[in-house]
Amino acid sequence: MPIMRAAYTSSFNAEDPLAALTVGERPEPTHPESDWVTVRVRASSLNHHDLWSLRGVGLSADQLPMILGCDAAGVDPDGNEVVVFPVVPDRADPRGMSILSEHFQGTLAESVAVPRANLVPKPAELSFTDVACLPTAWLTAYRMLTTKGRVDEAEAVLVQGAGGGVATAAVRLGVALGKRVYATSRDAGKRERIAALGATAVEPGARLPERVGVVIETVGAATFEHSLKSAAAGARIVVSGATSGHEPVLNLRRVFAMQLEILGTSMGTPEELAELLALCVRRDIRPVVDEVVPFSRVANAFARLASGDVFGKVVVDHTA
Ligand SMILES: NC(=O)c1ccc[n+]([C@@H]2O[C@H](COP(=O)([O-])OP(=O)(O)OC[C@H]3O[C@@H](n4cnc5c(N)ncnc54)[C@H](OP(=O)(O)O)[C@@H]3O)[C@@H](O)[C@H]2O)c1
Repeated sequence: MPIMRAAYTSSFNAEDPLAALTVGERPEPTHPESDWVTVRVRASSLNHHDLWSLRGVGLSADQLPMILGCDAAGVDPDGNEVVVFPVVPDRADPRGMSILSEHFQGTLAESVAVPRANLVPKPAELSFTDVACLPTAWLTAYRMLTTKGRVDEAEAVLVQGAGGGVATAAVRLGVALGKRVYATSRDAGKRERIAALGATAVEPGARLPERVGVVIETVGAATFEHSLKSAAAGARIVVSGATSGHEPVLNLRRVFAMQLEILGTSMGTPEELAELLALCVRRDIRPVVDEVVPFSRVANAFARLASGDVFGKVVVDHTA
């Protein structure tokens, strides 16, 4: 059986996720169904999801070993440059779908198998490393702002924990869409970099000069009270993650008195990914990239993400 290099997990470690990471060899992917194809991966990017997987969140022992990675851009068997939409129909999952690296092998390898319907054409104007940032974090941020948050009805947006992959995407997209963007970060250096993206950077919990129409929440327990307090009447608080804990203090009086909408969301659709790619080309938007790491140093890329000391996406170049 042909083998390929891959970053994968064959055990879990809740306290020290990096200890559960293996960089080594795995079999080349096989196709569960006839309408699947193999994509040669040119670039991928890491997400907090990969750290959850190493901790054993969302994966069970019988699914191991599992190649990590949700995001990929590469070349299909016909030679087309493609971006991989990472949500795959999955009869075995109660949601009816799963994200690459949950039930089906992930993208941090030389090749990944996906349904042909998951291939979205890569615009020539965008590089492989740029588009590899978009399918998970950027797509999530795009859907949070547009489909769920109805940002065109808002003048101001608050993004919590703005150093993260989803959050930097939300800041850059919010600014590009002409909104006043406020963003919190615990780190003074990150606040400076957020300000350079065109947002007003504040410390976590700080009172804003105005209430906002959309809040982008991925931090959870540590910031949710501030999200509620910062929301204008009728605002949408859109939640796609809870990095700091999923059981926040929730003042229900504020929810009904201010007629707030708290909306959960997960990833997006292939159509939204195509819209996002077109928007990036039309408005000359490029992802915020913390670092591009060659695949030969993929373990360093994981260590960087786990340190929390990132600003934007950590990208893996599979050609190096
Ligand atoms: N549902 C979906 O479709 C979807 C898709 C993508 C991601 N997610 C989820 O969204 C979350 C963020 O993902 P990501 O890939 O953007 O992660 P990430 O790049 O690791 O970012 C996490 C950010 O959260 C902030 N943060 C972490 N711990 C915090 C704490 N205790 N208090 C305050 N802020 C804290 C940090 O911001 P500062 O350092 O700037 O304060 C950090 O930069 C994860 O939970 C992930 O699972 C969900």
